[in-house]
Amino acid sequence: MADLQHCPTPRELDDLELLTGGAFSPIEGYDEFGSPITLTLPPAADADLDAGRSVELVDPEGLPLARVTRAADHSLTVTALTHAQYGPFRRLYLNPAQVRDRYAGRTFVPVADVLTDRQLAQVQEAGPVVVLALVGTGTPAMSAVGLLRATLRAVEGLDAAVVAVPLASHGRSDPQLRTLVVENYADEDPVLDLAPGGLPLPQLADIVAEEHPDRGEQGLVLFFTGLSGSGKSTLARALMDRILERGGRSITSLDGDVVRRNLSAGLTFSKADRETNIRRIGWVAAEIARHRGIAVCSPIAPFDETRQQVRKYVEDAGGAFFLVHVATPLEECERRDRKGLYAKARAGEIPEFTGISSPYEEPLDADVRVDTTGRTIEDALDDVIEALHRAGYLDLGLALPDDAAPVEVLAPNPHRPVNVLFVCTANICRSPYMLLKAQALVGDDPTVRFTSAGTHGFDSAHVDRTMATAMRMRGIVPGNIEAFRSRRVTSDILAEADLVLTAESSHREFLLEEQPGAFRKVFTLGQFAESLGRIDADLTGHDLVAAIGHSRAMTTSSHDISDPYRRGLEAASDCADQIDGLLQIALSRLTGKAL
Ligand code: ADX
Repeated sequence: MADLQHCPTPRELDDLELLTGGAFSPIEGYDEFGSPITLTLPPAADADLDAGRSVELVDPEGLPLARVTRAADHSLTVTALTHAQYGPFRRLYLNPAQVRDRYAGRTFVPVADVLTDRQLAQVQEAGPVVVLALVGTGTPAMSAVGLLRATLRAVEGLDAAVVAVPLASHGRSDPQLRTLVVENYADEDPVLDLAPGGLPLPQLADIVAEEHPDRGEQGLVLFFTGLSGSGKSTLARALMDRILERGGRSITSLDGDVVRRNLSAGLTFSKADRETNIRRIGWVAAEIARHRGIAVCSPIAPFDETRQQVRKYVEDAGGAFFLVHVATPLEECERRDRKGLYAKARAGEIPEFTGISSPYEEPLDADVRVDTTGRTIEDALDDVIEALHRAGYLDLGLALPDDAAPVEVLAPNPHRPVNVLFVCTANICRSPYMLLKAQALVGDDPTVRFTSAGTHGFDSAHVDRTMATAMRMRGIVPGNIEAFRSRRVTSDILAEADLVLTAESSHREFLLEEQPGAFRKVFTLGQFAESLGRIDADLTGHDLVAAIGHSRAMTTSSHDISDPYRRGLEAASDCADQIDGLLQIALSRLTGKAL
């Protein structure tokens, strides 16, 4: 009464032997939904049985373990050929006859989960016992090895023998079957069914923890699927970098194009070959997950069924499967056409091209969906990082380098002024203007403080001369202009800021490369102003900054304030106009005052 797919594992075959009571009678029974259970075989094997031929069940290495035949009345007969020869705790897998031989006269205690303190006390009272550890395919709570390790350790020092009974979990939900199997072992001896309840045994804590690692320590497969040119590889690479910067996990990349040059070299883009390609990726990824590593996969993987298979491989290996759908639309991928493949596919030079002449099945089970159209990689990546954080797998947003830790760790004191840092390239044109203009606009307001810095350039330089002229023409106090000195941004300066407003998105990217964890507080000035439209109009100060951190607009180049350096007074003046407009919007909301 086993539900066998493909080749059975030795454990499954033991199920067969058990369930047929050693007499190899036809398999029949009912699953938890009351449907008959039959031995499921691949169609080819089924056809063989129909034609009166027997089918051999082999172990993964091809050793014949059992023979199946179908009688005229359609019942199946399974004949055991040999036992599985390997596997952890193989010595504990005894058949009923062996158990009778060695342990007749004891009390039999079936267990399907880790023993609790109360259950252990019951076992202790029962005198000499045989604990039947019901290990089998689909055991929900513990792996076979885990259950055996835990049971052996729990009964250490007691007069107890542990026997592995390979009863599949669907059998366990069938009480009749369970009774039958246990009776096969116990014969006339008493059976003690343990009452549920009790506290975990402290001596088993490490085994249980190993079986069920926290999500943060579990093997993880980050699977990016999407059209060619959707941004899968770029996003996957950027994510890997973040994970590496955070440290503490081993990580392997399985990129579509790269895999096709090695692991899948020689495969075509036919449906069958694509499936093979993805299954290979899935197989490797599952092994990585088994070892608690992280695999970042980025193939197109256009077929839902194959993606589901990968999910199963990974979950069967104890890993978590996290699906990222890079949902950049075909038009955008084709517009980018970085490799020129879409043009060739349209011209009929590449057959079976995904999206053009071969289908892409959109996933319905994605953990996060990201469209990279009009977004920087940083922004798109934030969505993935946030989803990973929410799901409890990886906390990249909060895991900052040491020098940045105070940014996120400091509990925001609502009475502390919002520390706004303006950033441009050399801190001599745009950011000094933002700084001096902001101070002029806001005046003596204790709720905000302004500073500025440059991503490059020198420390202690004066404001650029042309910009200084533009500033004076706009009423900035000359003494303030003269007193100003440039400085380069440091991690301390960045850490002290509550809100960082940059002139261009390149400055934002620069800062986030230095401190990825600061992504919720670094915006371009234009992006910040635009994001305000999404935020509750009543929010000001720290609350406003926190809210925008969670629903900011995308950065686009239209938000950039271009560099007026060495482009004359008019350019400086235009730049100042642009900043004036944006600052007025941003600071009115931040301070809650009409400016
Ligand atoms: S998959 O369908 O099997 O998942 P995979 O990700 O490995 O595809 O390979 C896709 C890459 O191969 C694309 O990024 C593209 O560079 C290249 N390629 C070559 N021919 C095709 C094709 N017919 N369809 C899609 N991608 C192709």
